[in-house]
Parts: sequence; C-alpha cells; structure tokens
Amino acid sequence: MDLSIIVPTYNEAPNVAELVRRVAAALDGADGGVRTDAEIIFVDDSTDDTPEVVRLVAEEAPLPVRLIHRTARTGGLGGAVVEGLRAATADACLVMDGDLQHPPEKIPELVARFAEGDVDVVVASRYAGGGTAHGLADRTRVLVSKASTAITKAMFPVRLRDVTDPMTGFFLVSRAAVDLDGLRPRGFKILLEMLVRRPFRVAEVPFDFADRHAGESKASVRQGIHFLAQLAALRFGKMSLFAIIGGLGAVLNVGIVAALTHWGVDYLIAAIVAAEVTIVGNFLLIERFVFSDMRGQASGVWSRFAKSFAFNNAEAVVRIPIVAFMVETGHISAVVATAITLVVAFVVRFVFHSLVVYAPRNASTAGAGREVVRELDEQAVQPGEL
Ligand code: GDD
Ligand code: MN
Repeated sequence: MDLSIIVPTYNEAPNVAELVRRVAAALDGADGGVRTDAEIIFVDDSTDDTPEVVRLVAEEAPLPVRLIHRTARTGGLGGAVVEGLRAATADACLVMDGDLQHPPEKIPELVARFAEGDVDVVVASRYAGGGTAHGLADRTRVLVSKASTAITKAMFPVRLRDVTDPMTGFFLVSRAAVDLDGLRPRGFKILLEMLVRRPFRVAEVPFDFADRHAGESKASVRQGIHFLAQLAALRFGKMSLFAIIGGLGAVLNVGIVAALTHWGVDYLIAAIVAAEVTIVGNFLLIERFVFSDMRGQASGVWSRFAKSFAFNNAEAVVRIPIVAFMVETGHISAVVATAITLVVAFVVRFVFHSLVVYAPRNASTAGAGREVVRELDEQAVQPGEL
C-alpha cells in the first residue's frame, strides 16, 4: 500500500459514495497521472446510518475501504484522525474531510509533492498563492478563520514559519514523523497540534476549499472554545501545570505559617519551616507531574533535588531585598512589588528547571541566548498539560 486515506466522519451518510467514487477516479491514473495503491479508512463517530453506508460502498469499491466505528467520540475529529493514523497500512497518510470540501482531485498533487521525499508533511492550503476559502459558510467564518490563523501563527512564529494554513484538515503526513503517543487531540485542529509538538519539514500545495456536497458543518461555537483551550494548552502546556503546582505551594506556605504561629511558634521560624516544606513538596510534585518524561535522561534524583532546592532557597534570599529595593526607590506598594517579583521568579524558575535541573546528562548546558529560547520553546510545548 502506498497511501492510506483517513476520513473522519460524523453523520456524513449522503457523502460517502461520492467521496469514494471521486477518490478512486483521482487515483486510477486515467488522465496521465501515476496509479496509486491506496486504502480509505473511515473513522466514524456517527449517530446516523453512515457506518452502514460505508459497509455497502466498500463492497463495490475499486479500492479497499475500511471502517472504524467508534462508540466513544474521544478527542472528536482530532481523536478520530489519530485513530486512523494508528490503523493505517501505509506510512504516507492523507487526511481529508468526508464532505468533499477537500477535492479528491488534488490528492495526486499532494502525493507527488510528498514523493519528492524532502518533507514530512504536505499541507493543502487555502491561503497559499492560488488557494481559496470560498467554501466557508459565511463572512463571519471567513473572518474567524483568518483571525485565528493569524493569532496562531503569531503564537508559534518558529514552528509555523512555513505554514500559511495550520488549521486546514487536508494534508498528507508521514506517520513515522508523528509521535502518536505524544498527541493530546481535542477537536478540530489536529494538524496544528502535530506541527507544534515537533519540528516538521513542510511543503504546501494551494487548493480551493469547496462547498459541502451534502449535509451540514459540525463546526460550532463550542468547537471554537475548544480551539482556544487547545491553543493555550499547546503554548503553555508544561508551564501551566508548573504554575498550578507553584500556586498550590503558595497556599500551603501560607497555611503552614498560619498554623505554626497559631501554636505559638516564632514567626521567623514558622516562615522558614513553611518555605522549606513547600520547596520539598513542589519538587516532589514537579518530578511526578511536570518533568516525568525528562527524568530518564537527566542526572540522578538527589542531584536534581539539590539543584532545585538550592535554586529555590537562593530565589527566596534574592527576592526579598529586591522587593525592599523596589518599594523604597520605586515608590510602588509592597503588594505590587511582591507580585511582580513572584511572576519574574516563576518564569526564571521554570527556565532553570527545564534547562538545568532536568537537562539531559551528556548535553552541555545551553550557552547562547538563542539556544536557550529554542530549548524553552521546545519544553513549553511538550505534552504535560492537565
Ligand atoms: N469522526 C469524527 N468525529 N468526525 C468528525 C467529528 C467528530 O467528532 N466532527 C466532525 N467530523 C468530520 C466531519 O464529518 C467532516 O468529515 C470533517 O470532520 C470536517 O467537519 P465539518 O463539519 O465539515 O467541518 P468544517 O467544514 O466546518 O471544518 C473544516 O474546515 C476547517 C477549516 O476551516 C475541517 O476541514 C476542519 O478540519 C478545518 O479545520
Ligand atoms: Mn466541512
């Protein structure tokens, strides 16, 4: 098999036969193109009769047509695509919608570009030169699509440098280039997640996003909210969990001070005990939840603990005089000064832990500023979010 075509479907019964017919026609090489050995895998979450229609169409189809019918709609459209990738026979996996908004006649062009062998993914783009998005339902959706594409590209300027349409659902990817276990699909934007999680070599082919053949779009405001959540999780994945643990630590810290002083312990002693307990607790939590994937390659646990412990103590010692300095010379209130230094300390702490405490054993510590930024960018998008 040269090509696995993965089609996620949710109530697309009236589109199945036409899709299979046009895909088969596009691949049979009749108009001078190369014949491609392909299978179609429908990954279906439907509540209508789509599965029965797929089974019927499969009997007559000139190419293998497989059906994966899921009972739980885990991960929605993106989850279905990942399931299809797992089931695919070929390394070259083409993903397309089941409503014919992605013209099957484009497939040979994507295949030919992929066959040049210098890229991991070929993206069919509505926004590359010559592509159009006229199939988007109305002006509001055109606007939403353009704005969200611009925001997304701005949030991942490095990873999405070569991609004009990271939100498209029409692409051909080498399965070997995708870390399937590292994906956390939610909703529509599975290509975006793949591109962000790992560096990909990308080529684009423009296409015309057509009108739906039949039925209606499953896009909704809810999908939009999913998308924003996904964007935040992707960008601030590890960092967000790190922040939550830091927040819990602060609450614990205050709680311990309150309890100890209530029992008559001297304030200073209480503060020190609370700080140390919190530092140890934080370390145990981030070991378990935030950096668990990096422990294997990093130095031993006592060495990690020593670095983390030393950093957090140094941070406390350095931060207090800085707050005092800000309050006295900058005329800002102690609360604002504390808040500012806590935010800065949080970022520095994250940087220190991901680049030093959990640095791979044999790698030399990143020196140049650019390396640090790259490594940090890399760390922040690793799966680890809630
Ligand atoms: N298995 C499965 N599960 N398939 C789904 C689900 C789901 O929960 N939700 C939608 N699909 C299928 C649809 O049946 C269709 O084949 C395809 O995914 C795209 O869904 P549409 O409802 O047609 O969405 P759209 O046309 O609004 O969105 C398309 O354009 C977007 C860019 O504007 C898709 O290509 C998106 O991937 C793309 O981001
Ligand atoms: Mn559609």
